[in-house]
Amino acid sequence: LKQEALEQIDQAQTADDLQSVRVSYLGKKGPITEVLRGMGKLPAEERPVVGELANKVRQVIAEAIDEKKAIIEEKAINEQLEKESIDVTLPARPVHVGGPHLLTRMISEIEDLFIGMGFEVREGPEVETDYYNFEALNLPKDHPARDMQDSFYITEELLMRTHTSPVQARTMNAYKGNKPVKMICPGKVYRRDTDDATHSHQFMQVEGLYVDKNVRMSDLKGVLNQFAKQFFGEEREIRLRPSFFPFTEPSVEMDISCKVCQGEGCSVCKKTGWIEILGGGMVHPRVLEMAGYDPEIYSGFAFGMGPERIAMLKYGIDDIRHFYTNDRRFLKQYHQA
Ligand code: PHE
Repeated sequence: LKQEALEQIDQAQTADDLQSVRVSYLGKKGPITEVLRGMGKLPAEERPVVGELANKVRQVIAEAIDEKKAIIEEKAINEQLEKESIDVTLPARPVHVGGPHLLTRMISEIEDLFIGMGFEVREGPEVETDYYNFEALNLPKDHPARDMQDSFYITEELLMRTHTSPVQARTMNAYKGNKPVKMICPGKVYRRDTDDATHSHQFMQVEGLYVDKNVRMSDLKGVLNQFAKQFFGEEREIRLRPSFFPFTEPSVEMDISCKVCQGEGCSVCKKTGWIEILGGGMVHPRVLEMAGYDPEIYSGFAFGMGPERIAMLKYGIDDIRHFYTNDRRFLKQYHQA
Protein backbone atom coordinates (compact mmCIF):
# COMPACT_ATOMS: atom_id res chain seq x y z
CA LEU A 1 0.00 0.00 0.00
CA LYS A 2 2.77 2.39 1.00
CA GLN A 3 4.69 1.62 -2.14
CA GLU A 4 1.67 2.17 -4.31
CA ALA A 5 0.90 5.50 -2.68
CA LEU A 6 4.49 6.71 -2.99
CA GLU A 7 4.50 5.81 -6.67
CA GLN A 8 1.35 7.79 -7.28
CA ILE A 9 2.75 10.73 -5.38
CA ASP A 10 5.84 10.57 -7.50
CA GLN A 11 3.78 10.66 -10.67
CA ALA A 12 1.54 13.50 -9.58
CA GLN A 13 2.10 16.53 -11.84
CA THR A 14 -0.18 19.13 -10.36
CA ALA A 15 -1.56 20.23 -7.01
CA ASP A 16 -4.87 18.68 -8.05
CA ASP A 17 -3.32 15.26 -8.75
CA LEU A 18 -1.71 15.40 -5.35
CA GLN A 19 -4.93 16.32 -3.62
CA SER A 20 -6.71 13.29 -5.07
CA VAL A 21 -3.89 11.01 -3.92
CA ARG A 22 -4.25 12.50 -0.44
CA VAL A 23 -8.01 11.89 -0.45
CA SER A 24 -7.80 8.35 -1.69
CA TYR A 25 -5.09 7.22 0.77
CA LEU A 26 -5.53 9.41 3.80
CA GLY A 27 -9.18 10.41 3.46
CA LYS A 28 -12.08 9.26 5.61
CA LYS A 29 -12.89 6.50 3.18
CA GLY A 30 -9.27 5.57 2.54
CA PRO A 31 -7.59 2.24 3.37
CA ILE A 32 -5.66 3.52 6.40
CA THR A 33 -8.70 4.97 8.09
CA GLU A 34 -10.38 1.66 7.41
CA VAL A 35 -7.56 -0.29 9.06
CA LEU A 36 -7.64 1.98 12.09
CA ARG A 37 -11.40 1.74 12.27
CA GLY A 38 -11.23 -2.11 12.16
CA MET A 39 -8.82 -2.24 15.13
CA GLY A 40 -11.60 -3.17 17.52
CA LYS A 41 -11.98 -6.52 15.85
CA LEU A 42 -8.35 -7.47 16.35
CA PRO A 43 -6.98 -9.43 19.29
CA ALA A 44 -5.70 -7.08 22.02
CA GLU A 45 -2.03 -8.01 21.58
CA GLU A 46 -2.04 -7.21 17.86
CA ARG A 47 -3.63 -3.76 18.25
CA PRO A 48 -0.50 -1.79 19.20
CA VAL A 49 1.52 -3.40 16.41
CA VAL A 50 -1.08 -2.81 13.69
CA GLY A 51 -1.82 0.67 15.04
CA GLU A 52 1.81 1.67 15.02
CA LEU A 53 2.31 0.31 11.53
CA ALA A 54 -0.78 2.09 10.16
CA ASN A 55 0.24 5.37 11.74
CA LYS A 56 3.73 5.09 10.39
CA VAL A 57 2.47 4.40 6.87
CA ARG A 58 0.14 7.37 7.16
CA GLN A 59 2.97 9.59 8.31
CA VAL A 60 5.27 8.50 5.50
CA ILE A 61 2.57 9.13 2.92
CA ALA A 62 1.67 12.52 4.40
CA GLU A 63 5.31 13.61 4.43
CA ALA A 64 5.80 12.44 0.86
CA ILE A 65 2.75 14.42 -0.20
CA ASP A 66 4.03 17.59 1.54
CA GLU A 67 7.43 17.22 -0.05
CA LYS A 68 5.97 16.76 -3.49
CA LYS A 69 3.64 19.69 -2.91
CA ALA A 70 6.60 21.95 -2.20
CA ILE A 71 8.29 20.78 -5.39
CA ILE A 72 5.19 21.40 -7.50
CA GLU A 73 4.70 24.85 -6.02
CA GLU A 74 8.28 25.83 -6.61
CA LYS A 75 8.06 24.66 -10.19
CA ALA A 76 4.93 26.76 -10.72
CA ILE A 77 6.65 29.86 -9.32
CA ASN A 78 9.69 29.32 -11.52
CA GLU A 79 7.52 28.92 -14.57
CA GLN A 80 5.71 32.14 -13.78
CA LEU A 81 8.95 34.05 -13.20
CA GLU A 82 10.25 32.77 -16.48
CA LYS A 83 7.15 33.98 -18.28
CA GLU A 84 7.18 37.42 -16.67
CA SER A 85 10.87 38.09 -16.84
CA ILE A 86 11.97 41.34 -18.54
CA ASP A 87 14.68 41.28 -21.12
CA VAL A 88 16.81 44.18 -19.95
CA THR A 89 18.95 43.97 -23.05
CA LEU A 90 16.07 45.06 -25.36
CA PRO A 91 16.51 48.61 -26.71
CA ALA A 92 14.28 51.14 -24.89
CA ARG A 93 11.30 52.74 -26.60
CA PRO A 94 11.99 56.44 -27.23
CA VAL A 95 10.21 58.85 -24.88
CA HIS A 96 8.86 61.93 -26.66
CA VAL A 97 9.84 64.97 -24.66
CA GLY A 98 8.09 68.26 -25.33
CA GLY A 99 9.60 71.70 -25.05
CA PRO A 100 8.60 75.32 -24.85
CA HIS A 101 6.76 76.63 -27.92
CA LEU A 102 8.97 78.72 -30.21
CA LEU A 103 6.95 81.85 -29.35
CA THR A 104 7.34 81.21 -25.63
CA ARG A 105 11.07 80.95 -26.20
CA MET A 106 11.19 84.13 -28.31
CA ILE A 107 9.33 86.04 -25.62
CA SER A 108 11.55 84.86 -22.81
CA GLU A 109 14.66 85.71 -24.84
CA ILE A 110 13.27 89.19 -25.52
CA GLU A 111 12.37 89.54 -21.83
CA ASP A 112 15.86 88.51 -20.75
CA LEU A 113 17.47 91.14 -22.97
CA PHE A 114 15.27 93.95 -21.68
CA ILE A 115 15.49 92.82 -18.05
CA GLY A 116 19.24 93.10 -18.59
CA MET A 117 18.69 96.77 -19.51
CA GLY A 118 16.66 97.44 -16.38
CA PHE A 119 13.10 96.94 -17.66
CA GLU A 120 10.48 95.19 -15.54
CA VAL A 121 7.96 92.77 -17.06
CA ARG A 122 4.27 93.61 -16.60
CA GLU A 123 1.04 92.13 -17.90
CA GLY A 124 -2.44 93.43 -18.55
CA PRO A 125 -5.90 92.09 -19.43
CA GLU A 126 -6.69 90.74 -22.91
CA VAL A 127 -10.30 91.90 -22.58
CA GLU A 128 -9.72 95.65 -22.40
CA THR A 129 -11.82 98.75 -21.99
CA ASP A 130 -12.25 101.11 -24.91
CA TYR A 131 -10.70 103.75 -22.64
CA TYR A 132 -7.33 102.04 -22.17
CA ASN A 133 -7.14 100.45 -25.61
CA PHE A 134 -7.90 103.73 -27.44
CA GLU A 135 -8.84 106.85 -25.54
CA ALA A 136 -5.96 106.92 -23.06
CA LEU A 137 -3.66 106.47 -26.06
CA ASN A 138 -4.89 109.61 -27.76
CA LEU A 139 -7.45 107.85 -29.95
CA PRO A 140 -10.75 109.49 -28.97
CA LYS A 141 -14.01 108.02 -30.26
CA ASP A 142 -14.43 108.77 -34.00
CA HIS A 143 -10.67 109.15 -34.48
CA PRO A 144 -9.99 107.90 -38.00
CA ALA A 145 -6.87 106.01 -36.89
CA ARG A 146 -9.09 103.58 -34.98
CA ASP A 147 -9.57 101.98 -38.38
CA MET A 148 -5.90 101.03 -38.39
CA GLN A 149 -6.80 98.33 -35.90
CA ASP A 150 -10.03 96.62 -36.75
CA SER A 151 -11.35 95.37 -33.45
CA PHE A 152 -13.41 92.61 -31.88
CA TYR A 153 -15.87 94.47 -29.69
CA ILE A 154 -17.65 92.62 -26.91
CA THR A 155 -19.83 95.53 -25.79
CA GLU A 156 -19.61 99.21 -26.67
CA GLU A 157 -17.05 99.71 -23.92
CA LEU A 158 -15.21 96.35 -23.95
CA LEU A 159 -13.10 94.76 -26.63
CA MET A 160 -10.32 92.24 -27.18
CA ARG A 161 -7.24 94.46 -26.98
CA THR A 162 -5.83 95.28 -30.41
CA HIS A 163 -2.32 95.93 -29.10
CA THR A 164 -0.35 95.79 -25.83
CA SER A 165 -0.16 99.59 -25.61
CA PRO A 166 -3.04 99.82 -23.08
CA VAL A 167 -0.62 98.30 -20.56
CA GLN A 168 1.52 101.47 -20.94
CA ALA A 169 -1.43 103.58 -19.84
CA ARG A 170 -2.33 101.17 -17.04
CA THR A 171 1.23 101.12 -15.70
CA MET A 172 1.61 104.90 -15.79
CA ASN A 173 -1.75 105.22 -14.02
CA ALA A 174 -0.63 102.75 -11.37
CA TYR A 175 2.55 104.80 -10.80
CA LYS A 176 0.41 107.92 -10.28
CA GLY A 177 2.54 110.27 -12.35
CA ASN A 178 5.42 110.58 -9.93
CA LYS A 179 7.70 107.63 -10.58
CA PRO A 180 9.85 106.66 -13.57
CA VAL A 181 8.45 103.74 -15.59
CA LYS A 182 10.63 101.21 -17.36
CA MET A 183 8.66 98.20 -18.42
CA ILE A 184 7.92 95.72 -21.15
CA CYS A 185 4.68 93.84 -21.59
CA PRO A 186 4.39 90.65 -23.62
CA GLY A 187 0.97 89.28 -24.48
CA LYS A 188 -1.73 88.27 -26.93
CA VAL A 189 -3.58 90.79 -29.07
CA TYR A 190 -6.58 90.45 -31.40
CA ARG A 191 -7.60 92.04 -34.68
CA ARG A 192 -10.38 91.45 -37.15
CA ASP A 193 -8.16 90.15 -39.90
CA THR A 194 -8.62 87.28 -42.27
CA ASP A 195 -5.94 84.69 -41.51
CA ASP A 196 -3.34 84.15 -44.21
CA ALA A 197 0.43 83.70 -44.39
CA THR A 198 1.12 87.10 -42.85
CA HIS A 199 -2.10 87.91 -40.95
CA SER A 200 -3.66 86.32 -37.91
CA HIS A 201 -6.73 87.37 -35.95
CA GLN A 202 -4.70 86.70 -32.81
CA PHE A 203 -0.98 87.22 -32.40
CA MET A 204 1.58 88.38 -29.86
CA GLN A 205 3.19 91.73 -29.12
CA VAL A 206 5.90 92.89 -26.78
CA GLU A 207 5.39 96.48 -25.71
CA GLY A 208 8.12 98.64 -24.22
CA LEU A 209 7.83 101.90 -22.30
CA TYR A 210 10.41 104.10 -20.64
CA VAL A 211 9.26 107.32 -18.96
CA ASP A 212 11.56 109.47 -16.86
CA LYS A 213 13.04 112.96 -16.78
CA ASN A 214 15.14 113.65 -19.89
CA VAL A 215 14.36 110.54 -21.91
CA ARG A 216 15.24 111.27 -25.54
CA MET A 217 14.93 109.82 -28.99
CA SER A 218 18.60 108.84 -28.82
CA ASP A 219 17.77 106.65 -25.79
CA LEU A 220 15.14 104.85 -27.88
CA LYS A 221 17.65 104.33 -30.66
CA GLY A 222 20.32 103.12 -28.24
CA VAL A 223 18.06 100.60 -26.50
CA LEU A 224 16.69 99.23 -29.78
CA ASN A 225 20.14 99.03 -31.32
CA GLN A 226 21.35 97.04 -28.33
CA PHE A 227 18.34 94.76 -28.59
CA ALA A 228 18.77 94.17 -32.35
CA LYS A 229 22.45 93.30 -32.04
CA GLN A 230 21.96 90.96 -29.10
CA PHE A 231 18.94 89.26 -30.59
CA PHE A 232 19.89 89.01 -34.26
CA GLY A 233 23.68 89.31 -34.16
CA GLU A 234 26.42 91.92 -33.72
CA GLU A 235 26.69 92.54 -37.47
CA ARG A 236 23.15 93.95 -37.67
CA GLU A 237 22.52 97.65 -38.22
CA ILE A 238 19.28 99.45 -37.46
CA ARG A 239 17.62 102.44 -39.08
CA LEU A 240 14.62 104.50 -38.02
CA ARG A 241 12.10 105.77 -40.56
CA PRO A 242 9.40 108.36 -39.82
CA SER A 243 5.98 106.88 -39.27
CA PHE A 244 2.71 107.65 -37.53
CA PHE A 245 1.03 106.38 -34.39
CA PRO A 246 -1.53 108.48 -32.51
CA PHE A 247 0.16 107.77 -29.16
CA THR A 248 3.73 108.73 -30.15
CA GLU A 249 5.19 111.94 -31.58
CA PRO A 250 7.45 111.72 -33.42
CA SER A 251 6.79 108.13 -34.47
CA VAL A 252 9.19 105.75 -36.13
CA GLU A 253 9.41 102.37 -37.72
CA MET A 254 12.61 100.46 -37.20
CA ASP A 255 14.31 98.32 -39.83
CA ILE A 256 17.23 95.98 -39.33
CA SER A 257 19.78 95.25 -41.98
CA CYS A 258 19.60 91.86 -43.63
CA LYS A 259 21.63 90.10 -46.24
CA VAL A 260 20.03 89.93 -49.65
CA CYS A 261 20.64 86.33 -50.54
CA GLN A 262 18.92 83.23 -51.79
CA GLY A 263 18.04 80.07 -49.95
CA GLU A 264 16.88 79.15 -46.53
CA GLY A 265 16.47 81.98 -44.04
CA CYS A 266 17.05 84.64 -46.68
CA SER A 267 13.74 84.73 -48.50
CA VAL A 268 12.21 87.21 -46.04
CA CYS A 269 14.83 89.92 -46.61
CA LYS A 270 13.72 92.53 -49.08
CA LYS A 271 15.90 93.64 -51.99
CA THR A 272 16.69 96.90 -50.18
CA GLY A 273 18.69 94.99 -47.56
CA TRP A 274 16.46 96.34 -44.78
CA ILE A 275 13.47 94.77 -43.13
CA GLU A 276 10.96 96.37 -40.77
CA ILE A 277 10.75 94.86 -37.32
CA LEU A 278 8.92 97.25 -35.01
CA GLY A 279 7.12 100.53 -34.41
CA GLY A 280 7.81 103.09 -31.74
CA GLY A 281 8.33 106.73 -30.91
CA MET A 282 8.35 109.38 -28.20
CA VAL A 283 5.29 109.11 -25.96
CA HIS A 284 2.75 111.76 -27.02
CA PRO A 285 2.42 114.57 -24.44
CA ARG A 286 -1.35 114.00 -24.36
CA VAL A 287 -0.79 110.36 -23.36
CA LEU A 288 1.57 111.38 -20.54
CA GLU A 289 -0.88 114.00 -19.39
CA MET A 290 -3.88 111.67 -19.35
CA ALA A 291 -1.88 109.19 -17.24
CA GLY A 292 -1.02 111.93 -14.72
CA TYR A 293 2.56 112.66 -15.84
CA ASP A 294 3.49 116.31 -16.42
CA PRO A 295 4.86 116.46 -19.99
CA GLU A 296 6.92 119.52 -19.02
CA ILE A 297 8.90 117.38 -16.59
CA TYR A 298 8.63 113.84 -17.93
CA SER A 299 9.25 112.41 -21.35
CA GLY A 300 9.42 108.88 -22.63
CA PHE A 301 9.68 106.47 -25.48
CA ALA A 302 7.57 103.46 -26.39
CA PHE A 303 7.81 100.68 -28.91
CA GLY A 304 5.92 97.56 -29.90
CA MET A 305 7.14 94.47 -31.71
CA GLY A 306 5.64 91.19 -32.87
CA PRO A 307 7.39 88.01 -31.67
CA GLU A 308 5.92 86.00 -34.57
CA ARG A 309 7.41 88.39 -37.09
CA ILE A 310 10.72 88.37 -35.26
CA ALA A 311 10.78 84.57 -35.14
CA MET A 312 9.86 84.44 -38.84
CA LEU A 313 12.79 86.72 -39.66
CA LYS A 314 15.22 84.92 -37.39
CA TYR A 315 14.38 81.42 -38.62
CA GLY A 316 13.07 82.04 -42.13
CA ILE A 317 9.52 80.87 -41.33
CA ASP A 318 7.20 81.74 -44.20
CA ASP A 319 3.71 81.43 -42.70
CA ILE A 320 2.43 82.88 -39.42
CA ARG A 321 -0.20 80.12 -39.20
CA HIS A 322 2.54 77.59 -38.38
CA PHE A 323 2.69 79.05 -34.87
CA TYR A 324 -0.93 78.21 -34.15
CA THR A 325 -1.69 75.01 -36.02
CA ASN A 326 0.48 72.97 -33.64
CA ASP A 327 1.99 70.55 -36.12
CA ARG A 328 4.65 68.77 -34.06
CA ARG A 329 6.90 68.43 -37.09
CA PHE A 330 7.08 72.22 -37.23
CA LEU A 331 7.28 72.84 -33.49
CA LYS A 332 9.93 70.29 -32.63
CA GLN A 333 12.47 71.82 -35.02
CA TYR A 334 12.74 74.65 -32.52
CA HIS A 335 12.95 72.61 -29.32
CA GLN A 336 16.23 73.11 -27.58
CA ALA A 337 18.02 70.22 -25.93
N1 PHE B 1 0.74 99.67 -30.69
C1 PHE B 1 1.39 99.78 -31.98
C2 PHE B 1 0.80 98.72 -32.90
O1 PHE B 1 0.17 97.80 -32.45
C3 PHE B 1 2.87 99.58 -31.86
C4 PHE B 1 3.49 100.69 -31.08
C5 PHE B 1 3.69 100.55 -29.72
C6 PHE B 1 3.86 101.88 -31.71
C7 PHE B 1 4.25 101.56 -29.00
C8 PHE B 1 4.42 102.89 -30.99
C9 PHE B 1 4.62 102.75 -29.66
O2 PHE B 1 0.93 98.82 -34.10
